[in-house]
Amino acid sequence: IYKAVILVGGPSRGTRFRPLSLNVPKPLFPIAGHPIIWHHLDALSKVEGLKEVLLIGFYEDAVFQRFIDDAARDFPQIYVRYLREYQSLGTAGGLYHFRDEIQRNDPRQIFVLNADVACSFPLNDMIKFHNTHRGLCTILGTKVSREVANRFGCLVERPENHEVLHYVEKPESFISNLISCGIYLFDCAIFGEMKKAMQNKANRVDRDQFQVQDERLRLEQDILRPLTESSKLFVFETTDTTDTWIQIKTPSSAVPANALYLEQYQKTNPDRLLKNVPGGPTVVGLVYKHPTATIDPSAKIGPNVTIGHRAIIGKGVRIKDSIILDNAEIKNNSCVLYSIIGWDSKIGNWSRVEGTPTTDHATTVTQNGIKIQSISILAKEVTVKDEIIIRNCIVLPNKELKTSCHNEVLM
Ligand code: GDD
Ligand code: GTP
Repeated sequence: IYKAVILVGGPSRGTRFRPLSLNVPKPLFPIAGHPIIWHHLDALSKVEGLKEVLLIGFYEDAVFQRFIDDAARDFPQIYVRYLREYQSLGTAGGLYHFRDEIQRNDPRQIFVLNADVACSFPLNDMIKFHNTHRGLCTILGTKVSREVANRFGCLVERPENHEVLHYVEKPESFISNLISCGIYLFDCAIFGEMKKAMQNKANRVDRDQFQVQDERLRLEQDILRPLTESSKLFVFETTDTTDTWIQIKTPSSAVPANALYLEQYQKTNPDRLLKNVPGGPTVVGLVYKHPTATIDPSAKIGPNVTIGHRAIIGKGVRIKDSIILDNAEIKNNSCVLYSIIGWDSKIGNWSRVEGTPTTDHATTVTQNGIKIQSISILAKEVTVKDEIIIRNCIVLPNKELKTSCHNEVLM
């Protein structure tokens, strides 16, 4: 059997995801109509013999209860549980703390997935690859542009067998543009390595009387890096044609993540997508609409748009590359481009909310030498009056906008 752990983090993290994480913990923010980590379960449900998924983090216990209930309905074959760290233990600390629970029923291998990624999750291919080498860990790797590589864990591989020769977490200078996707497959023997790492840390503390015992264990620096020294870390690289990956740190990255999952739907469940039908709105490209949302037939929607639960889209509205969250309303003849419209927000008639398109993994764009917010984000319960233009702005919850604004954070 296989098991999986999703590292969900806790309330002190995900601060870069504000203002959207003010209303929902980041792992539960909806992308393509479902919480971020629902897509992880969707992928895990396609691994034969995988029956249990543990969410490990330091949120209150109640936070994931509804998600777990919904998951039981959507993925009846998987048992999902939340295990709470009493404090932030680091990316490997929780794995080590709950090692008995994770190893119960003797899983053959364990997937560990960062919560804040969107991916086509080639998990079955990772299993196949893992069984061809003698390492303890297979890490999913992908190539990114040189300029952004040092924001990730960087890998140098031996091309013949994909052994990872060097692993450096967020290096100061360029090392490699092959990076870690934060998606791993481990043998249970990894817990022995974690034990060693804990002992090494304790020994260091004994020698240095000024250092206090820190229980945080970092998967990247404390576990993966040492694994390269004993040739036990291997990388499975995404293929350009079928696999996609993106990190979800800022609200801006939710828009390309949304596009990524809509493309996944098109490949695997095309009936989840909205179609052009007589008497319906004009649909351009990939659009997801919650069954309870209403869209006027004269509206034109898409590509890369998600319309949430009970949202109302008026006459002549144009929406593209955007996420409209639950209960939001876009009134007649308004236009929403490259934006996220928060829960219960209202856009008046003949208004316009827009951002600027970005390339992969970039979240801001530079215009005339000034860095600007790339997409417009309206948090929960924001009201935009009639005939207003909002461009490249972040708007905090409960604001009412009566004048047009550009390139601002509106508090
Ligand atoms: N349970 C728990 N406890 N989870 C945690 C903790 C913790 O103390 N700290 C972080 N996490 C979770 C986060 O919620 C996230 O899902 C994941 O662990 C990694 O978060 P970060 O520590 O913020 O690292 P990062 O996202 O900047 O970088 C990691 O992911 C990149 C890919 O997205 C690294 O693994 C990089 O090497 C990698 O490239
Ligand atoms: P079209 O065939 O012209 O619709 O092109 P497109 O679907 O490729 O759209 P494009 O990216 O060129 O522009 C966005 C669409 O939004 C255009 O159709 C514009 O007519 C429409 N649009 C732009 N501004 C507004 C606005 O303020 N209100 C409304 N209702 N529509 C707008």
